[in-house]
Amino acid sequence: MTQVTSVGKSTNIVWHAGYVTRAQRERLNNHKSLTLWFTGLSGSGKSTLSHGVERRLFEMGCRTYVLDGDNVRHGLNSDLGFSDADRVENIRRVGETAKLFMDAGLIVLTAFISPFRSDRRLVRQSMAPGDFVEIYCHSPLEICEQRDVKGLYRRARAGEIPNFTGISSPYEVPEQPELILNTGSDSVETCINQVIDYLLQRGVVTMGRAFGEEAI
Ligand code: ADX
Repeated sequence: MTQVTSVGKSTNIVWHAGYVTRAQRERLNNHKSLTLWFTGLSGSGKSTLSHGVERRLFEMGCRTYVLDGDNVRHGLNSDLGFSDADRVENIRRVGETAKLFMDAGLIVLTAFISPFRSDRRLVRQSMAPGDFVEIYCHSPLEICEQRDVKGLYRRARAGEIPNFTGISSPYEVPEQPELILNTGSDSVETCINQVIDYLLQRGVVTMGRAFGEEAI
């Protein structure tokens, strides 16, 4: 008999399992799928590093996708702002999207401030053990503010942007992230290498698939 379930507002729904499984896709890709969850203040390097790691993985023959806060808020999450409730929903949707992409066999890289510990924990708990790799981009507020790549800190200090993380909205530092990148002091290259080394050590990817210097 088919199993009828209810989840949230969705009632009388039935899960339909496909013929192609995640494990089969992982075998085809020759790497495992997982989610690299970059978290940290605005301007701490999340986007730069997630895209940098993605390029390296792509050159190694991996199938990847970056979900980037600013980009996802242009589309899927354009109905959300920066209140606490909207940030919670932002992260919930990103977690669910990451799960779909992992099921599709990809290495997912997410770059969201994701300031609340409870939200990050919920995403971690919604995934299989080992699927959620929390990467804390650690850069002191003063450095992020000095860099102020987007000019948003200056505007937040001037009172033009409410609920700005680090200024008028909290950021809860991860307690036990899998990786801490010292993005305030280390170079982009050093931080990228740290992530790639972690993936090699865990056997998520292998060097065997490297395309060498070939430009793609
Ligand atoms: S999150 O808190 O919900 O995870 P997210 O990563 O999606 O945030 O978006 C953060 C980006 O939105 C920042 O990098 C910045 O460019 C922009 N932004 C606009 N308003 C705010 C705000 N009030 N606080 C933080 N970032 C903001």
